[in-house]
Amino acid sequence: HKHLLGIEGLQPWEINYLLDEAEQWIEFNRLPAKRDERLHGLTQINAFFENSTRTLLSFEIAGKRLGADVVNMGVSQSSVKKGETLLDTALTLNAMHPDVIVIRHDASGAVQLIAEKVGCPVLNAGDGRHEHPTQALLDALTIRRRKRRIAGLTVAICGDILHSRVARSNFQLLGALGAKVRAVAPPTLIGEDTDRLGVDVYTDMDKGLDGADVIMMLRLQRERMSGAYFPSTREYFRFYGLTQERLAAAKPDVLVMHPGPMNRGVEIDTAVADDISRSAITEQVEMGVAVRMACLDVLTRSRRGVEGWV
Ligand code: CP
Repeated sequence: HKHLLGIEGLQPWEINYLLDEAEQWIEFNRLPAKRDERLHGLTQINAFFENSTRTLLSFEIAGKRLGADVVNMGVSQSSVKKGETLLDTALTLNAMHPDVIVIRHDASGAVQLIAEKVGCPVLNAGDGRHEHPTQALLDALTIRRRKRRIAGLTVAICGDILHSRVARSNFQLLGALGAKVRAVAPPTLIGEDTDRLGVDVYTDMDKGLDGADVIMMLRLQRERMSGAYFPSTREYFRFYGLTQERLAAAKPDVLVMHPGPMNRGVEIDTAVADDISRSAITEQVEMGVAVRMACLDVLTRSRRGVEGWV
């Protein structure tokens, strides 16, 4: 693969390969001095057409720790605000001879469109409702380290499935590695593709959490809900918020996850989010840097004359 546009199309061995590659960076990132020079001389552009805290920062940190020259383009400072089209922006970035481009965009498919126009590897940092592959990889790494496996685990992905690229990438990744994956959501926020992705659907939160090994909570994405069903936060929390009481339905050693940003008191209660015996939320962020280092390394190998993965 030249690009990493989604989990769709990756073979299970390729997913496991990226997870295995990420393992080496976890301890490395805990060292006081963290510098590897394998991307020395390479230019990495992070083009973010949509806001981000975790993904942008961790891609920047990942590139810098591997020795790349990293530059960020945020939409608010760019000429996109002056009406430049996506394709013209892509051709402009390409003319600067980057060696890898990381892109986030609010339109599904926009990252693929840019990938077709540029000469270097492109990594999808989240496109609309479509995919967020490095998020699913970091989630899988977190689960694998905590539970020592993924196959056979019951994973309940709960909340605003309809608008979630995180859910769509995780359905595919966790399914490919043999987990039993559930979508737990109000009927209006489930979306159309759960059948295609082989996911069991629950509209009752307590039933959906029953016997779960892992619970992954999702943010209610109000910014993508114009004109659509828009539940009140109080009503939503009452029926779909994750509380300590609700957790009783899951396995006693259940792992609680959230990709962030969290809306406390909307989809997750503060007591659950901060319960470090079960919550892996900050660990997910830590795994994100390791996974992004692995992806940047693997995807730039052919440019560096190093044997790639396929
Ligand atoms: N999980 C995630 O993608 O967070 P950001 O939007 O802050 O990057």
